[in-house]
Amino acid sequence: MTDLNLRNAHVLRRILILTILVVGVATAHSQDIPSNAPYKNAKMPVEQRVQDLLGRMTLEEKASMLAGANWMESVAIPRLGIPSIKMADGPMGIRSWAGPSKITKTASHPFSSTAFPAGIAVAATWDPAVAQSVGQAIGQEVKAIGRDMILGPTVNIQRVPLWGRNFEGYGEDPYLAAQMGVAYINGVQGEGVIATVKHFDANNQEFERHRVDESIDERTLQEIYFPAFKAAVQEAGVWSVMSAYQKVNGLYCSENPFLLKDILRKEWGFKGFVVSDWGSTYSTIGPVNAGMDLEMPGGEPAKSWLITEGPKKVGNGGDWLSPEKVLPEVAAGRITVATLDDNVGSILRTMFVSGVFDRAPTAPSEIDTPAQRAVARHGAAESIVLLKNDGNLLPLDSSKVKSLAVIGPSAAVARTGGGGSSLVHPNYAITPLDGIKERAGSGVEVRYALGTSMPGEDPAKDTPEAREKLRTEAVAIAAKADAAIVLIGNSPAVESEDFDRTTLDLPAGQDELVQAVAKVNHNTVVVFNAGAPVNISRWVGQVPAVLDVWFGGQEIGHAVADVLFGDVDPSGKLPFSFINDFKESPAYGNYPGEDLHVKYAEGIYVGYRYFDKHGITPQFPFGYGLSYTTFGYSNLKIKSGKAASGQTFEVSLEVRNQGNRAGAEIVQLYLHDGHSSVDRPVKELKGFRRVELAPGKSATVSFKLDKSSLAYYSTQKKNWVAEPGSFDVMVGASSADIRLKGSFELSQ
Ligand code: BGC
Repeated sequence: MTDLNLRNAHVLRRILILTILVVGVATAHSQDIPSNAPYKNAKMPVEQRVQDLLGRMTLEEKASMLAGANWMESVAIPRLGIPSIKMADGPMGIRSWAGPSKITKTASHPFSSTAFPAGIAVAATWDPAVAQSVGQAIGQEVKAIGRDMILGPTVNIQRVPLWGRNFEGYGEDPYLAAQMGVAYINGVQGEGVIATVKHFDANNQEFERHRVDESIDERTLQEIYFPAFKAAVQEAGVWSVMSAYQKVNGLYCSENPFLLKDILRKEWGFKGFVVSDWGSTYSTIGPVNAGMDLEMPGGEPAKSWLITEGPKKVGNGGDWLSPEKVLPEVAAGRITVATLDDNVGSILRTMFVSGVFDRAPTAPSEIDTPAQRAVARHGAAESIVLLKNDGNLLPLDSSKVKSLAVIGPSAAVARTGGGGSSLVHPNYAITPLDGIKERAGSGVEVRYALGTSMPGEDPAKDTPEAREKLRTEAVAIAAKADAAIVLIGNSPAVESEDFDRTTLDLPAGQDELVQAVAKVNHNTVVVFNAGAPVNISRWVGQVPAVLDVWFGGQEIGHAVADVLFGDVDPSGKLPFSFINDFKESPAYGNYPGEDLHVKYAEGIYVGYRYFDKHGITPQFPFGYGLSYTTFGYSNLKIKSGKAASGQTFEVSLEVRNQGNRAGAEIVQLYLHDGHSSVDRPVKELKGFRRVELAPGKSATVSFKLDKSSLAYYSTQKKNWVAEPGSFDVMVGASSADIRLKGSFELSQ
C-alpha cells in the first residue's frame, strides 16, 4: 500500500467510525424500549430474546460488553436493562473480590465466607455427591451476597506434580476430573448461579504462564486435557468457560480458534460465554474473532495491569477489548458485526438462561450457615486418605491412649487452602489441635509443641539453632505421650498460584522433626496437608501411620479428629500417583520447557497410565487409600445389552465389608483394549462408586458402559473410535490393586 492510499484508508476509517457512532447514538436515543419488548419477557424462547435484544443495541453498546467494567463485574447497560454479571472468585468458596490480591487488597471492606475443602480434597472423596454439595453451598453463598457467577471449578489435569495449583484441581485422571467437575457445576448452577469451568485448556504449570507455548498432540488433548471440559459442557451444561493464560500449539488460549471455535462450540456445542482469565487477553482481533467473549478484568484495573516484574512478564497490558480498541477494528472490517453479535449474544444468552437477567435484586442473606459449615466438614472428613496404618494404630483407642503429643507447624494453624486467587478468608477455622482437644475430651491429656516452624511464617524461628530447640521441645513431649500426632506439610506460601514448587521435598525442618519424634514414640501418626505429592521417603518407613488431609477448608481440624478417633472411617483415595521425586514423573525432562516451549512428549501417558506402561510402582498408586475395615470383592458379572447408541455392557460385582467397623469403599473400574490398532494404556478409569457398608454387609455395585467408554481418539478419522474385539475389565481398590478381572466382546 502507498502512503497516499494509507492516508486515504485512515480518513475513510475515521469517517466510518464516526458514522457508526453517530448512527448508533441516534438510534439509541430515538428508540424507546416498550415494556413488552420480547427480550424482557422471561417466558419467551431464549434465542428470540437474544435476537430481539441484539437488534435493539447500538454497535457501541455491543462493543462495550466485550470487556469488564472493573475487576469482577461485566458492563451493565441501564438503557436496555442489561445488568452487569457480578462475579466472585473460587473455586473453594467465595474469595473476596476485595481480598488479598495485588489489585484488590487496598479495598477496605473485609469479607469472609465458608472455606470449603480444596478441589484435590473433593477429588479424593471420589464422591460426586460431595462435589455437588460443595458446589451447591457455594452457589447459595454467591446468590446470598448478591453476586451471579463463581470462577470455578478448576479441572486442569495434574501433569506436573510441582504445579503450584494442583490443589485446586481434581488430580491426574480425566474421567475422575470430569465426574467431579460435572457434579460441582450441577451444584452451583442448580442455584441459578453461573459456574465457570477453568482454565481452558491445559493450564498445567504456573512457570511463565503468560508466555509459555505447549505442544500437545491432538489425541492427547482429546483423551487427557479435554474430557473434563467436554463433560462440563455436555453433561453439566456449564454456562461459562475461562480461557487459560498460556499458548497451546502456538496460539494463546484466548485467541485460539481451534480451542474456542472448532472444539468448544462446534464439536461440543457450547452455548454460554468464554471469559478470559484475568489478564490472559493479549490482542484485540484474535480473541474477538476466536469467540473469546469477555475480557477480564476491564476498566481501570485492565489499564493498570502489570506488564513486567523484574525480568518476568506477569501481565500483558490488558484493556484489549475495550470499545476504543474494538470499534476501529469493526470499522476496518477486521471484526464483523456478525462476530460481535455472536460474542455479545453468548453473554446475553447466559444471562437469560441462568436467570441473571430477570432476577430482581434481593437483600443480602446469611452465609456460612450451619448447613454450609456441615458441608465443609463432611467433605473434609470424606477426603482424608489413610496412606499407612501398621498394626492398626488408628483409630486411636481412647481407652488406651491417655496422653497425646500434638506437634508440628500445621497443628495449631488450620491450613484451609493453597495460595493465590482461590484462597478463601473464612470467619473461623478449626485447627487440628483444637479439633483433637475437643474430641479427646478431659480424659486425654493433650500437649502441644510447634516442633519446627513453617518457613517464612516466623523468621526468628527459621534458623538452624531455633529449629533444633523447637525439635528438642517436641521430642520431650512426644517421649512422654501414649501417641504422637505430627502435623506437617505445605502452606499456601509453598503451594500456590503464580509459581510452581521447585521440589517435592517438604519445607525445611519437617523431615527431621518426624524422624526425631518417631525415634522416641512408636505410636507416631504423621498427618500432612498438601495438594500434590510430597517426598515422604525419608520417614515413611519409620512411622506406623500416615494420613493425607489436603487443604481441608475451615473444618479441617474437626475432620482430622473425626478420622483419628474413628468417628469417620477414612475412605478417601488418591486422585494422583504419589511419587517422592519429580524425576519419577512422566513430565520430567519436559517441564518447565526450554525457551518458553513445553513439549508434552509423554502424550497420553500421564500419571498411572505412564507408571503402568513402564511397570513402575510409585510410593502410592493412583486410587489408593486404606480404611479401618477391609472389603472383599466377588461375583463379577458382565452382561451385554443394546441401546439406540449401540452395544452396551453392564459390569456388576459384590463388595463386602469384611471387618467389624462400618466403612466406605471406592470401587474402581478400569478398562483395557488389548486388540487396538493404536497404542492404548494398560488401564483407564471408566467408572467408580463409593459404597458405605455396615460390618458384615455387602452390596451389589454395577456400572454401565457404552462405546464411549471403549473409544480412543483417532487423529486420522478425527473422531472417537471403539474397535470391535475383546476388552479387559479390571475392578479393584486402586489402580494397582485389581481384585476382579473379566472381559467382554464388542461386536462389529
Ligand atoms: C486465576 C483465575 C482467577 C482469576 C481471578 C487468575 O489469576 O488464574 O483462576 O479466577 O485470576 O482472580
